[in-house]
Amino acid sequence: MSLNSESFQKCIWPACGATFDLAQTLVACPNCGNLLDICYDWDHLPVPKNLDYFEQFWSQRRNPQRFSGVWRFHELLPFADLEDCLTIGEGQTSLQQADRLAAEVGLPPGNLMLQYEGFNPSGSFKDNGMAAALTHASIQGAEFAACASTGNTSASLAMFAAVTGAVKAIVFVGSGKIAYGKLSQALDYGACTIQIDGDFDDAMQRVRQVCPELGIYLVNSVNPFRLEGQKTIMLRVLESLQWQPPDWIVVPGGNLGNSSSFGKIFGELKMLGLIDRIPRIAVINAEGASTLNHLYNQKNFRWQQGQFSTTKAQDYFDVMRKSNATANTVASAIEINFPVNLAKCLRALEITDGVVRDVTDEEILDHKAMIARHGFGCEPASGASLAGVRRLREEGLISDSDRVVCILTGHVLKDPNVTVGYHTDQAWREEQGIRQATFANPPVTVPNELEQIIAAINQSH
Ligand code: F0G
Repeated sequence: MSLNSESFQKCIWPACGATFDLAQTLVACPNCGNLLDICYDWDHLPVPKNLDYFEQFWSQRRNPQRFSGVWRFHELLPFADLEDCLTIGEGQTSLQQADRLAAEVGLPPGNLMLQYEGFNPSGSFKDNGMAAALTHASIQGAEFAACASTGNTSASLAMFAAVTGAVKAIVFVGSGKIAYGKLSQALDYGACTIQIDGDFDDAMQRVRQVCPELGIYLVNSVNPFRLEGQKTIMLRVLESLQWQPPDWIVVPGGNLGNSSSFGKIFGELKMLGLIDRIPRIAVINAEGASTLNHLYNQKNFRWQQGQFSTTKAQDYFDVMRKSNATANTVASAIEINFPVNLAKCLRALEITDGVVRDVTDEEILDHKAMIARHGFGCEPASGASLAGVRRLREEGLISDSDRVVCILTGHVLKDPNVTVGYHTDQAWREEQGIRQATFANPPVTVPNELEQIIAAINQSH
């Protein structure tokens, strides 16, 4: 098993720019503490001339790596030999043209598309990155891999560990909101599940302390290999659009791994001459977990080609910690106050001329219900993306002619409690501050009598 010799790790902070061998397991630059990228010496690698090069692999579905929606694009993340790349069949996801939904948010037919990452084996986009991180972990000979999680990363790690046997999974979850679909996955796949008294941000801090102490491989998105795998979400979107970039990619923001990886791949594709135009990225926070929105729109934090001061961000985080600020949103997947990929996300926003918005829990749940009313559905966090589209349409930033792709990050079955609460439970809705629940579709309760059942059906339409 070997790592590619034309690939290396590099500190993202230009003033440092230190490089490291791929055989080192790192989650931050040992010199300055900033995040790391996986970089490639493209001049010495076989880079395709056009993106349609990848279409040849559609006919190689019996090869597990080329069947994978991640490793099909190996030439654009070639850090390991193809035959060593771990796969459980991730990335068989689809882009749905959602015309009826487009009408709901004031877009013409053909201009709104939904990328269903919930179709991954563990039900969320996390499998894209997990395939890449665990490939590195297994080449490194790691015995244990760990993550902190709001639920989906843990489900993905637990499933990969169960299916491949490559590592043993240890997952840290908070004791507050964790969607039962996700917790049940970690338990059923046999992961050692550490539930700490705290939220995701606390779990993240702890797992970062525990991993070096016990020599455990960390697979959160501070691991630069994770983000290499997540780049392929954008490659599949482009593939579905016949390699024509859309105008907008709208994505929910939590720990900001997705947005960071999307910015990286678009920068790489442009630099390699494989696309001529970069879509704009809109990152959508939940209002109760909107650190990025606050820093970007109120504090004017910008990457500024790497002039960005990470100390400034750290100072802000320290103030938040001192005031005991905790995140709070019904979209538990993105209930995160201290996004670990903040700097990379700011860089992605610069590369893509991006924007950031936040939306309320009510908007998130209404748009989640709308998505399901017109398609395959999604979990709450993913609803933030469509709510973001509506907001940007109202502001006129997304125009009539713009082609928009919403990333639906997790499956509709991940969080049944929230879905059932929204549709059926007035008291639960009040607790969450949901006033209207415009798309609530409660069951019609009827006695077990044929005539009454028929009458109820007749009344329903
Ligand atoms: N959507 C879903 C369904 C998620 O599970 C997450 C993150 C996000 C969006 C946010 O993505 O971090 O790339 O900005 N979930 C992580 C977890 C934190 O632990 O499962 P991001």
